[in-house]
Amino acid sequence: MTAAGDLPEAGRLLTAASRPVVFTGAGTSAESGVPTFRDAQTGLWQRYDPSRLATPAAFHADPALVWGWYEGRRHGVRRAEPNPGHRAVAAIRARLPATVVITQNVDDLHERGGVPDPVRLHGSLFAPRCSACAHPAPVPGDAAEPPAGPLDPPACARCAAPVRPGVVWFGEALPEAALGAAVEAASRCDLLLTVGTSALVHPAAEIPLVAARLGVPVVQVNPVATPLDAVCAVNLRGPAGEVLPALVRAAWPDEHTG
Ligand code: OAD
Repeated sequence: MTAAGDLPEAGRLLTAASRPVVFTGAGTSAESGVPTFRDAQTGLWQRYDPSRLATPAAFHADPALVWGWYEGRRHGVRRAEPNPGHRAVAAIRARLPATVVITQNVDDLHERGGVPDPVRLHGSLFAPRCSACAHPAPVPGDAAEPPAGPLDPPACARCAAPVRPGVVWFGEALPEAALGAAVEAASRCDLLLTVGTSALVHPAAEIPLVAARLGVPVVQVNPVATPLDAVCAVNLRGPAGEVLPALVRAAWPDEHTG
């Protein structure tokens, strides 16, 4: 195990918890082969800045470009598998049923890794909806190959406007119910475990701070430093797919997360 940081202390904090929050970012899915939001883009998308594609203006200007980019990301997620980090989060939730998992990710790897009900702050690649009337749209069938470039979005079955990805774009408000549930969980938890997030994008990045301000211990899992270092009780420097199973074993030596 490659983590640096006080793993036994983190294990003790987890053993003592009864209502933890697990707050995850893109790094949680990195070892499943899903690029993080700030990883370099590949292929056709190299010349596009993700933060300029993930906006209402970009979709309005070129729906096919934005829809094609997201369908390419969804294609990659469908071929990815949950990693031991996802399964360790599920093991925590199985041991402590009051655990609340809050994710910034738009993949479905928490669900496929044993957490059926994450609080989704940024939506999902698997919840497309109409860009005009918000009518839910079916998830497109799985293509054999990812789109090689722009792809015309489907038309809404109700009003014929273009369907959009069901994710939160820059400049858009987070889903009110999800944000409320996340703040409520962070306000009530007795441990906050933040995993694989750069903690740069607000308001999601406020969630660990809600707990920290109440004196709740924050444990971070990330190979590199983030703005959350300043409020962490324990910083576990390493990849989630290795550190989280080790953390679970430190808390419950009889647990085998697989
Ligand atoms: P980022 O790409 O900003 O950060 C990923 C974090 O994961 C970085 O801090 C990496 O150091 C860390 N990391 C990389 N590999 C890891 C591993 N194997 N184990 C653990 N950590 C690892 O992704 P997020 O913080 O999730 O918003 O970004 C937050 C939001 O920014 C995203 O949800 C997205 C973007 O705007 C929307 O799409 C609305």
